[in-house]
Amino acid sequence: MVLTMKPAWIAVLCVLMAARLSVSLEEDTELAEQDGKERCARWMRGVPGTPGFDGIPGQDGRDGREGEKGDNGEPGPKGPNGEPGEAGDEGPAGKRGFPGNPGLKGESGEGSFPYRSAFSMGLTGKTSSASRAPIRFTKAFYNEQHHYDDISGKFRCAIPGIYYFTYHLTINGKETKVAMFKNGQTVAFTLDQFHNGNLDQASGGVILNLSAGDEVWLQLYDDVFDAGIYADTNNDSTFTGFLLTPKILSNPTDNRRR
Ligand SMILES: *[C@@H]1O[C@H](CO)[C@@H](O)[C@H](O)[C@H]1NC(C)=O
Ligand SMILES: *[C@@H]1O[C@H](CO)[C@@H](O)[C@H](O)[C@H]1NC(C)=O
Repeated sequence: MVLTMKPAWIAVLCVLMAARLSVSLEEDTELAEQDGKERCARWMRGVPGTPGFDGIPGQDGRDGREGEKGDNGEPGPKGPNGEPGEAGDEGPAGKRGFPGNPGLKGESGEGSFPYRSAFSMGLTGKTSSASRAPIRFTKAFYNEQHHYDDISGKFRCAIPGIYYFTYHLTINGKETKVAMFKNGQTVAFTLDQFHNGNLDQASGGVILNLSAGDEVWLQLYDDVFDAGIYADTNNDSTFTGFLLTPKILSNPTDNRRR
């Protein structure tokens, strides 16, 4: 450092040296009178110089190592609400509720007349002796639906269902064989073995399952051409039939067929 010192600094040093030199001026009186530069040079080799001034501050050092992680900060403010989630599964069925109030009164239904069928007929006198033909009952006790035809002497079924038929005949004068027919087949027989001097009663009754169009009547059988079936104003012979249970069809108009 001393070697690179500028001349100005060297001059200052020499002055300082010269100040010290005055202390030993007595012993070097001769030298003091010589050239100043030479004397300064001589001193340089001798005593070490005083330390120089501090240099200018150096550049900043490199960054230090990363420090330890700090404590967690305070929680931030609450965020906005998220989107609604998907609907959950269907829950179990609830308990059965209380019974509801009674409903309104329904409209009045159609009359039961279409399902009514009955007749009760009588004889007005001694029957004709006709055989192989229905006995014609022409005295009407009841035949409102006219399901009994007093021309043909046959009941014709208009409403399918279960029917009851009965007959009560007054027999006078002759043995009488009478039968109930259904569509040409005998279904019930009555034999009255008449004895002179009496008025007999011949009767019978059956339940029949009829379809629409079936025909039922009373007729003599065994090729009898004459019989004792009798009636007058005080003694009746009757033929009666009526519907017990209609068979309700899916199409009610079928029940009204005549
Ligand atoms: C009546 O006859 C019909 C037709 O033959 C039949 O379908 C029905 O079952 C019968 N009813 C009874 C009670 O016998
Ligand atoms: C019919 O009945 C009446 C009264 O019961 C009786 O007087 C009369 O004799 C009967 N007719 C016949 C033919 O028996």
